[in-house]
Amino acid sequence: MKRPTISPLHRAVTLLAGTLACAGVHAREQAATAMPQTAAPSNAQLASPDIERRVDALLRQMTLEEKIGQLVQYNDQGFSAPTTANGDQALAANPETQTRVDAMALAKQGRLGSMLNVIGADKTRAFQEAAMHSRLHIPILFGADVIHGYRTIYPVPLGLAASWDTALVQDLSHMAATEATTAGVKWFYSPMVDISRDARWGRSTEGAGEDAYLGAAMARAYVRGYQGTDLSRPDSVAASVKHFAAYGAAEAGREYNTTDMSDIRLRQVYLPPYRAAVEAGAATLMSSFNALNGVPATANPYLMDEILRKEWGFDGFVVSDYTAVMELTHHGIALDAATATKKALEAGVEVDMMSHFYDTQIPKLLAEHRLSTATVDEAVRRVLRVKFALGLFEHPYAQGTEVTHAVPGHRALVRRAAEESFVLLRNAAVGGKAVLPLGDGVKSVALIGPLADAANEMQGAWGGGNQAPDVVTLQQALERRMRERGGRVLFAHGTDIEGDSTAGFDEALQAARQADVVVLALGESSAMSGEAGSRAHLDLPGNQQQLLEKVAAIGKPVVLLVFSGRPLVLDWAARHVPAIMAVWFPGTEAGNALANVLFGDVAPSGKLPMSFPRAVGQEPLYYNQFPTGRPAGDADLSRPPGGDTRFVSRYIDVPNDALFPFGHGLGYTSFAYSSVSVSRRTLPLAQANRPDARSLVTVTATLTNTGKRAGTEVAQLYLRNLGASVEQPVRSLKGFQRVTLKPGESRQVRFELGFPELSFYDVHSRQVVEPTHYTVWVGGSSQATAQAAFDVTP
Ligand code: BGC
Repeated sequence: MKRPTISPLHRAVTLLAGTLACAGVHAREQAATAMPQTAAPSNAQLASPDIERRVDALLRQMTLEEKIGQLVQYNDQGFSAPTTANGDQALAANPETQTRVDAMALAKQGRLGSMLNVIGADKTRAFQEAAMHSRLHIPILFGADVIHGYRTIYPVPLGLAASWDTALVQDLSHMAATEATTAGVKWFYSPMVDISRDARWGRSTEGAGEDAYLGAAMARAYVRGYQGTDLSRPDSVAASVKHFAAYGAAEAGREYNTTDMSDIRLRQVYLPPYRAAVEAGAATLMSSFNALNGVPATANPYLMDEILRKEWGFDGFVVSDYTAVMELTHHGIALDAATATKKALEAGVEVDMMSHFYDTQIPKLLAEHRLSTATVDEAVRRVLRVKFALGLFEHPYAQGTEVTHAVPGHRALVRRAAEESFVLLRNAAVGGKAVLPLGDGVKSVALIGPLADAANEMQGAWGGGNQAPDVVTLQQALERRMRERGGRVLFAHGTDIEGDSTAGFDEALQAARQADVVVLALGESSAMSGEAGSRAHLDLPGNQQQLLEKVAAIGKPVVLLVFSGRPLVLDWAARHVPAIMAVWFPGTEAGNALANVLFGDVAPSGKLPMSFPRAVGQEPLYYNQFPTGRPAGDADLSRPPGGDTRFVSRYIDVPNDALFPFGHGLGYTSFAYSSVSVSRRTLPLAQANRPDARSLVTVTATLTNTGKRAGTEVAQLYLRNLGASVEQPVRSLKGFQRVTLKPGESRQVRFELGFPELSFYDVHSRQVVEPTHYTVWVGGSSQATAQAAFDVTP
């Protein structure tokens, strides 16, 4: 399939003509089709006529080699022949890879368009100087995996999503951009917006969890934070939204595995965050490693041409994931490097990250007339467009003083982010009083566990390149805090994260016996999630569970802090440990944030972005499931089946629901929801079934702080749609807001529902509203009960 070579301006005219031509013929179909078949450019800056003129002028001067240079990407090591077993296959497919690529030599010749993970202003400057002295002075675009902070690290994205605080995410993203641009990085391989409904998938840690609506909100926030309103500002970076698409649905949660799904599921569940990011103006995307319905995403014209470019109007460029073009040979859809190159480029991957295929194969493909010059030009055009929009030609070098360590002035923000990311899963009373926050009577704390003083681990996946010495650990913060209170900390490592040694158990038990309260810092290492971090077991690794059980048996009040990049199975803990808090990987200010929350200076307010299962066998587990013909109804699924509780959709050995469901999270006060109402009981279809329709129904509810402390609640709106032509989830999140209330205070929360919230995809992949019955719930989790209803009438 050929790629379109139309410029945005030409396209606007073509679209208009196309729309008019269709109007008569498909009048009926158009009426039923709410989704426009084409879209306006998604980023006005990239569609600028001025930029287009500059791109045209430059393109005319470029040699083929210079053009191809814009389409390849290497790191500062360049490229050496692969040595692994897979590498042998790559060699077979591309014998040219036996030649090492020298990135600096390419830069000097103006044949290196972009580079990845070149860290440090000196390094980026050296490569940039080389490029700027080349014939056409085209600057290199430096990209890096700045996923949750550059030097000042905030929580892993899954933790950040638990804050449900999009303004915070935007501020943090901007903060990261201000740091990284001082080192010459102008492009982040972030946000990762893959929906993950399977906790086995390690990359769950990099995204916003299981829900499309929350995921889309987070995606927008990241893009706005990175790119600002003007890509050319010195502290703006281009986002690279990844991994396009549906990578999070990897079968069985196994990394790099295939995905296969209906178009409805793709569009309704997996695509919304990518689309939101594109509509927010994302300048670039990264194609994913997985195949989708049999077609590898890196050679998938349906995803990159039909949907991304034609439907969403994307004007930026797509970069492949690391060696993903080469991996098309492993997928078996290309027997040689040339075919892989042709398929990826024609499908819409403009930049080849590290495969060394585009530079070796494009000349051959052109010479053999298997690829058109127009396709190459269009790819180069898209890359140059982003470079011009970024102002790289005017300001190719890093600006300002280079940030090489956590920035003191940024600590308050990342500390708040960590505090907001913690999710208090359980907080039972011991001796008539909830264990958290720790009260004045607590004079000694036994701090036990391998994550209590693990600076490096606090940075999470993709945080490892940053400075562990800048991190405040829990042990450091707690010791300072207890000293100030005239108390003490009894610290014991207890056990390693992995391994089976029990050598540290006695010391830990001894500490627990002597203390008023035990704080256990258990969980995963940061390397157990992130890329290539899939797990088939979701329990506490090593012998941490054993340690937990022994400590709990002593009978002291226990607070379990769970560090992880994903939901874990905490079934035993939920039955035996009074206080449990999911704290993810909190970043540079980990210890201070934890101490603030443990002692109640700050109340936890996070809500789960992903369901915590009771057992691994429930995965993939998510709240917005489709109904079944045999719903379990009110049956008690904690009991073995019998009589009429057997032939329903259930497991015989574990309940269906999550141990801790999506949206769940406690604070130090309590909230009540009442008076849920809708602004209208009926809504005519003609009014609702229009893509631009907003604020069709207003849902209000009264939220009251019924406890004794001030607190922040994330009020959530869920919706169910019954009677549609296609079955709809049992409920779906369609609104949320963070509300802070004093004790006894009430506030009305309002949610507006429009076409985006009421619509769904029908069997023809059209986004539509049909005359159906809607139920709305407003509450503090996906198990909200206060409800109201309305109908869309024919
Ligand atoms: C990962 C991407 C990352 C890229 C560059 C790949 O292995 O999948 O998420 O951006 O490497 O480091």
